[in-house]
Amino acid sequence: MPGMPVPSDHAAPARSPGSLASSLLEWYGRAGRDLPWRRRPNPYRVWVSEIMLQQTTVETAGPYFDRFVRRYPTIRDLAAAGEEEILALWSGLGYYHRARNMLKAARLIVDRHRGRVPRDMKSLRALPGVGPYTAGAILSIGHNLPFPALDGNVNRVIARLGAIEGDPARASTRREIEALAARLMPAGNASAFNQALMDLGAMVCTPRRPDCVACPVATCCRARREASVDRIPATRPSASPRHVELAAVAVLHDGNVMLVERGEGTLMKGLWEFPLVAAKSRLQVEREAARYGARLVRCVGQVRHTITSHRLSITVYEADRCRRPSRGLSPRRISVSEPAARLATPSSASPARWESLDIVTRGGQGGLALTGAARKISRLLAAAR
Ligand code: ADE
Repeated sequence: MPGMPVPSDHAAPARSPGSLASSLLEWYGRAGRDLPWRRRPNPYRVWVSEIMLQQTTVETAGPYFDRFVRRYPTIRDLAAAGEEEILALWSGLGYYHRARNMLKAARLIVDRHRGRVPRDMKSLRALPGVGPYTAGAILSIGHNLPFPALDGNVNRVIARLGAIEGDPARASTRREIEALAARLMPAGNASAFNQALMDLGAMVCTPRRPDCVACPVATCCRARREASVDRIPATRPSASPRHVELAAVAVLHDGNVMLVERGEGTLMKGLWEFPLVAAKSRLQVEREAARYGARLVRCVGQVRHTITSHRLSITVYEADRCRRPSRGLSPRRISVSEPAARLATPSSASPARWESLDIVTRGGQGGLALTGAARKISRLLAAAR
């Protein structure tokens, strides 16, 4: 493969690459997971699944994947869709730039590649949202070309097989892992091989307490032989999440609820949410409600939501409308000095919009894309009614 470094013998597993691959593939045929994107696979479906799986677990992504490909069975269907509609379908998956990038990429694929998912690294990497891992996964799983697809699970499996002790975040360790993965790959079977590695990492060669007894390639595993499985791969302490206290104002009126759209320059731009306040006191929340022409009625409860490295704790207040909201709800009037709070508070908002409470409580299935926190709040409101 062009550009692939020459593998070093240091990281050689005990048995030949061919026998390792055949044991792994035999196990995969018997014990591999039945996942939605593995049924009727094609490069388009593989691409969609890999984008969803970038920041989402297999369990969560499954139903979203099914809905997405049912609505957009081909790249051309996706390229013809509107952004609002895609965001609504994506609602709850988070990391919405993925959906926007997919739409842009689908249009590029239609314009530049006659609607076919590219089969070469350079063209794939030129698409928005496609990094080295995703490109490798599409080339190998979707096109059966011999490229590594080193996600967290596969990195761990390969590092253990070769007893590669370095930090996988370092370029030199990554090169070692990549070289061994390339060396182990069987000819003509990249798709099944990479997916087998993913499944082995997810089900057997887990981060903690791996089930080496059930491992089909245990006899090839150098870390097992050297009793170093528990310290490979090397891990770094992760940064602890920041806690952010917020309040949400749910203004209800005639079976409708007031929502605001997240503005330019914010995370999750274009999604809708309940007005949020970086509130230290109930008085501040009351002031915020007043801007929307509303008066607080009661505290409904609390919602917790984690986004990137922020843990939001949102106190939810129900409010009723007592007069017209003030014009131009400029959130600049919400002074937020704490950067973490800015993450959750729109920096520029569109005018508030009244939306039927039913639609909101059903999670925005009526076409409006809600933030993950707003979906949780709407469920809390529904339960409290
Ligand atoms: N994680 C990322 N891509 C995957 C795939 N195709 N199958 C299972 N897990 C995955």
